Amino acid sequence: MSAMRNSSRQLTGRVAMVTGGAGGICSMLAKGLASAGACVWLADMDAALGKKAESELRQMGAEANFRKVDVSDGAAVENLVDEICKSSGRIDILLNGAGTAARKSVFELTLAEWNRVLAVNLTGTFLCSQAAARRMVGAGYGRIISVTAINATSRPSPRNSPYAVSKAGINVFTQSLAAELLKLKVDVTINAISPATVDTPFYRKDRSMEQIQKTLASGSVAQPDDLLGLLLFLASPESAAISGQIIGHKNYMFSETVVNPERPDFPPP
Ligand SMILES: NC(=O)c1ccc[n+]([C@@H]2O[C@H](COP(=O)([O-])OP(=O)(O)OC[C@H]3O[C@@H](n4cnc5c(N)ncnc54)[C@H](O)[C@@H]3O)[C@@H](O)[C@H]2O)c1
Repeated sequence: MSAMRNSSRQLTGRVAMVTGGAGGICSMLAKGLASAGACVWLADMDAALGKKAESELRQMGAEANFRKVDVSDGAAVENLVDEICKSSGRIDILLNGAGTAARKSVFELTLAEWNRVLAVNLTGTFLCSQAAARRMVGAGYGRIISVTAINATSRPSPRNSPYAVSKAGINVFTQSLAAELLKLKVDVTINAISPATVDTPFYRKDRSMEQIQKTLASGSVAQPDDLLGLLLFLASPESAAISGQIIGHKNYMFSETVVNPERPDFPPP
């Protein structure tokens, strides 16, 4: 796996918590953090995938632990961050990657579906960032990186509105927390990585094979690995001057900025 290819040992001795780290983009990014030397704590709802990801990290020789945690549960998040700090002595890096969506029209969505997407994506990012930032500020050092999405800004999101709203919220939260941290004059930064489409189970869910093949052939779909270099930089001490930034993957340029409902492929795949 090329997560190993890109990294040096620049994170040796650092401790990272990765939410959504059992699958998709963040299991790959967790491997990248581990191969850069970090001790990795995976937090995810999916215990089967989480244990598998933990054992893959350990097979790489990394120090790794999985805990089943719902990021929208404040007490569970606080317990995990507490355990990390007691067991590993610190938390240096938080990668907020846990995410979900409800791909339905506004007219079909239930309140429960709307609330769940916001609870996992936005409130989960808030809860994990708050718990981690408290420790990071105390220690004088930390890096928080959230995975947002291009849907939050330049691409309209028909049949995906709670997701887009949650990601827009993450962007604003990133800037707000960064501004608060700046005032404290500690080396704690908060940034977000904003990919367009990435080839994962999350992306493939609810899409036909024909749609998937079409987008893969167009080059508009990034591989999880493509985000690793940026993550490693934002997770490293070298990125101290950067905070409050939402950094897009270059494939955002494939995104539709104007959607014509008359087009046969509306909504965009
Ligand atoms: N795949 C894409 O095209 C794409 C594009 C832009 C942004 N993203 C974002 O990247 C992140 C990872 O997405 P992915 O494509 O790898 O998806 P994925 O579904 O493969 O992974 C998401 C992970 O989050 C976990 N999760 C869901 N709810 C949770 C909860 N309440 N608590 C803890 N963990 C929970 C899932 O179990 C899963 O392991 C998400 O935040 C997603 O919004 C994905």
